[in-house]
Amino acid sequence: MNTAQDRNRIIVFDTTLRDGEQSPGCSMNLDEKLRIAEVLEEMGVDVIEAGFPIASNGDFEAVREVARAVKTSQVAGLARTSRKDIDRAWEALKGAKRPRIHTFISTSALHMRVKLRMEPEAVHEMIVDSVRHARDLCEDVEWSPEDGSRTDHDFLCRCVESAIKSGARTINIPDTVGYAVPHEFAALIAMLFNRVPNIDKAVLSVHCHNDLGLAVANSLAAIGAGARQVECTINGIGERAGNAAMEEIVMALRTRRDVLGAYTGIKTESITNASRLLSSITGFNVQPNKAIVGANAFAHESGIHQDGMLKDATTYEIMTPESVGLTRSTLVMGKHSGRHAFRSKLKDLGYEPGENELEDAFSRFKSLADKKKQIFDEDIVALVGEEARTGNERIRLVSLAVTCGTVGPQTAELELEIDGVRKSTKAAGDGPVDATFKAIHELVQHGATLKLYQVDAVTEGSDAQAGVTVRLEEMGKTVNGQSSDTDTVVSSCRAYLHALNKLLVKRERTAPAAFGG
Ligand code: KIV
Ligand code: ZN
Repeated sequence: MNTAQDRNRIIVFDTTLRDGEQSPGCSMNLDEKLRIAEVLEEMGVDVIEAGFPIASNGDFEAVREVARAVKTSQVAGLARTSRKDIDRAWEALKGAKRPRIHTFISTSALHMRVKLRMEPEAVHEMIVDSVRHARDLCEDVEWSPEDGSRTDHDFLCRCVESAIKSGARTINIPDTVGYAVPHEFAALIAMLFNRVPNIDKAVLSVHCHNDLGLAVANSLAAIGAGARQVECTINGIGERAGNAAMEEIVMALRTRRDVLGAYTGIKTESITNASRLLSSITGFNVQPNKAIVGANAFAHESGIHQDGMLKDATTYEIMTPESVGLTRSTLVMGKHSGRHAFRSKLKDLGYEPGENELEDAFSRFKSLADKKKQIFDEDIVALVGEEARTGNERIRLVSLAVTCGTVGPQTAELELEIDGVRKSTKAAGDGPVDATFKAIHELVQHGATLKLYQVDAVTEGSDAQAGVTVRLEEMGKTVNGQSSDTDTVVSSCRAYLHALNKLLVKRERTAPAAFGG
């Protein structure tokens, strides 16, 4: 029998690697997904949705590898209702300690008519068949009615009841298009509790999108109405405007437990680290004023606020920076800092590399410290990101020299190592970055188009590192490349090569398949 306390424990289902990864430009390679999964597990996520195995060979492989690597969290894989989808999901998941098949089909009149072109009766039959089939393979099955928040209530109740009868242990109600508002969404959840006779046999979950900026508010309203699982992503990444942000839900529950009454098992001190890792992998920086993880979330600028803070932090601070893992370490780093100080700085920032990684990161740190007077925490975070990006790339930068200035043409002399063979060229362009990208194109034939070129200063100061993101698209596949260096053109070149290397991996791994919601 559950204690009152257990009944208030919210299951955190993270879909950063599935719904989050589906957002344009957020795709991750296998290695990156494994790193994210490791962090999610460490932070106490209950269920990690690792991908959509039928979508591509790359997705399949990622789910299989995450399933093998993760030991404490459950690992879920998404599947539509066809047996082929479900079998493929199970194939990827079966090596997991605690696997879960998550199957879904649209139930709103609009989706059934336009998208599925199926009658409600046929959809209902598919639900029964798919959940039964999934249950024959896997003990733990979750079912979702896509576009649930816009589904006719009678039909929704009937489908939910049948899914539970067929063996679903979790019923997840998605607000697929982010259309719901909090009181309405809470009423929908309450309606299901009131009208579905076997609802007590399943955990009720919610999955909210952020099209109206209400994903977190809707998730919390649903918890208030009795939902006990929330689906969310780190930094709120996801389709269109994204999914409910995990850090916001978790911190709202922690900070306002007095009124919300529920809690999660998330180690909130890991939030900052997870957020930074995801940003550095995807190149999606969070806006400075983003709740919980934005650069300004704990900054106090105005005189009145600063005065209050100095007298008593609780005047303007409802949660401590430490509670989300933001430690303003006092250790000042520079070119005289040794390995020991560097290791302890990394620890302060939430990184604990192995010996080899530490050695590589330390030598990068030393060369950065030679170029830059002051090394800020942000520099170290960028440096660790850079470290994680380099390894077994097929295309490497050997050297780059550019000419720039008021008298053109600007040129780039570039040498690359491609699959172990050195090649060089010289190209002219409209500025040194354009010349560099043209030189890359001459050496590496590809049909990708540049979708985004973004440069941010990692810190203050004219010797700041330039954090560059390059987004490339080739045949509907989008990848992001990042780099940081005190030389903006070198950083741009590396970011472009990072993206190209990812495209090469995608080309090898991807087989076409349709994506779900
Ligand atoms: O938004 C959605 O409806 C989904 C489902 C597949 C759960 O992502
Ligand atoms: Zn979704």
